[in-house]
Amino acid sequence: EKGGYDHFMLKEINEQPEALKAAITGRIKNGEPVISEINNIEEFIKNNLKKIFIVACGTSYHAGLTFKYFMNRYSKIDVDIEVASEFRYMNPHVDENTLVVAISQSGETIDTLEGIRIAKEKGAKVITISNVYGSTIPRESHGAIYMNTGPEIGVAATKTYTAQIAILYALGAKIIELTEGLNEEIRGILKGIEKMPEIYKEVLKLNEKIKELAREYVKYQHMMYIGRGFGYPTALEGALKLKEISYIHAAGYQAGELKHGPIALLDEQFPVFAIIPKDSLYEKMKSNLMESRARNANIIAITTKGNEEIKQLANEYIMVPETHEALYPLVMAPVIQLFSYNVAVLRKLDPDKPRNLAKSVTVE
Ligand code: F6R
Repeated sequence: EKGGYDHFMLKEINEQPEALKAAITGRIKNGEPVISEINNIEEFIKNNLKKIFIVACGTSYHAGLTFKYFMNRYSKIDVDIEVASEFRYMNPHVDENTLVVAISQSGETIDTLEGIRIAKEKGAKVITISNVYGSTIPRESHGAIYMNTGPEIGVAATKTYTAQIAILYALGAKIIELTEGLNEEIRGILKGIEKMPEIYKEVLKLNEKIKELAREYVKYQHMMYIGRGFGYPTALEGALKLKEISYIHAAGYQAGELKHGPIALLDEQFPVFAIIPKDSLYEKMKSNLMESRARNANIIAITTKGNEEIKQLANEYIMVPETHEALYPLVMAPVIQLFSYNVAVLRKLDPDKPRNLAKSVTVE
């Protein structure tokens, strides 16, 4: 049942080429978004939509945050995001002109469910991205987009995270098409997603190198993940994956926030894991790496293939294929997942069953 892999988590990480393909089949065609699940709210999107509010927990929240960066850059619609456990108690500003985008792999997370109930009472439309057919949150939504990745058994979300991002981008593009009109750049991003299954095959081959890095870094008690722009949600997800399955304390920060406090933590015992693709924020990230190095922190960097300069900036590096800035969250996800997986295994932990965690969080 584990298909020859030692753990479900490793199997599911390696399934990402097929899982992502299944998620976008019929939803992205030659760079065009086709999301029939929102047919019934198309008129609402065209005529009423003023604000999108994203609601989710954990890894699904990180997919949502990636979506927020996408919508901020490519549309004029106001986008807000909150973790569901805060959203439901905060008097969220949603109304009949708001589209709530709920993201829940299991479709049963109680905080997300209560969040959409509140949003509906306030008159908002709700669309949910989920992996479980007929689960409660999609059933209570105005529209549901199922990820089609097949069941995810490992407690840590992996293939569903990348499927969520791909679907959210397609949904975002559809919303932009209905409101402001698509442009070539957005079509190019969607075409890039269509190529992702092939790119993943290449990224997954990095596992041997990632395992080597894990061997060197398993001894640390802490790890600081940093990123900017689209790299920031990836940093948060990297830190979450590491803490939940390897029990190493990890924090994810916007790299620009380092000097507002967290940089005080850095020294030779506190390494940095930098998300530093060759994108528009590369030079800014570079300064943050130099600041971290000046504190003697060891640095692992994930960057773009061909970026030779990284050898001077970081102690260790992993290179991923070049892609559009908005697609690095997808390209880099398997790397952070494999890193955490390997660290957990080296620590003799069962990555499929992290202590204190459940796959479906149906209690508050
Ligand atoms: C982390 C993880 C959790 C879930 C969170 C939300 O690997 O799996 O953080 O993402 O509990 O679950 P869903 O998406 O089912 O609402």
